[in-house]
Amino acid sequence: MRELLPRAGEVDLFAAYAQADPGLRVNFVSSADGAAALDGRSDGLSGPADKLVFRVLRALADVIVVGAGTARIEGYGAVRLPAEHRDWRGAHGMPPAPPLAVVSRSLALDPASPMFTEADVRPLVLTGPDAPTPARQALAEVADLITGGSAAEWRALLAERGLTRILCEGGPRLFGSLLAEDLVDELCLTLSPVLARQEAPGIAEQPGGDGPVRLGLVHVLEDDGYLFLRYTVGRD
Ligand SMILES: NC(=O)c1ccc[n+]([C@@H]2O[C@H](COP(=O)([O-])OP(=O)(O)OC[C@H]3O[C@@H](n4cnc5c(N)ncnc54)[C@H](OP(=O)(O)O)[C@@H]3O)[C@@H](O)[C@H]2O)c1
Repeated sequence: MRELLPRAGEVDLFAAYAQADPGLRVNFVSSADGAAALDGRSDGLSGPADKLVFRVLRALADVIVVGAGTARIEGYGAVRLPAEHRDWRGAHGMPPAPPLAVVSRSLALDPASPMFTEADVRPLVLTGPDAPTPARQALAEVADLITGGSAAEWRALLAERGLTRILCEGGPRLFGSLLAEDLVDELCLTLSPVLARQEAPGIAEQPGGDGPVRLGLVHVLEDDGYLFLRYTVGRD
């Protein structure tokens, strides 16, 4: 992989993606015509270099936040970091792996899912005060439930646990709600060299949103036709 901007040449991904602390970063892959999924999932948009960046961003984070829709559709499993990424974390004073935090209002999540049962670090579920009690009790067996009335409240409750470098892996509706609360600091966007040419959500779904949000370009990397764009969000 090579850097095109701000300087052309080889790139150290851990340095290029060093995460601000505190910071809320969102990571997506998109087709060139703006689709966040191909045949309903993101995998067809990805490639080896995108998967590498995906893993590096995980290694840099204190917590990985994902919407329940994405966890269900993409069949999320337990977080597994390669040995060299665990070593990197250890050398930087971080625990071996970040917990997964699934965002769900309905709590329609299977407690027997591998993302809960096979996790090395106890997962979190971020939910609201109206979540149904039976599902709450069932999930409490396999995860810590964090209850907040808004994403800003979840962020504050995660910070109380020392989880301040947040990586959000989508999906579009969760990203839309984070933008609505003006909580996003950074967007890492892989632009896949493909036209999806089908009905699909964009990366940020926010019906009735308050209009455009400005992005500031931080870097552009390239590998095999894939572009890796790192932006600041809503700041000049
Ligand atoms: N291209 C990519 O990088 C990428 C990344 C992620 C996902 N995707 C694609 O996106 C599609 C899924 O889209 P999606 O918009 O449904 O995914 P999503 O945002 O992950 O899931 C939406 C669900 O998450 C929960 N949720 C989201 N925001 C919430 C909030 N503020 N408060 C409470 N709960 C909240 C709700 O779960 P409950 O219904 O349980 O209450 C909601 O139904 C799939 O096709 C997936 O492949 C693509």
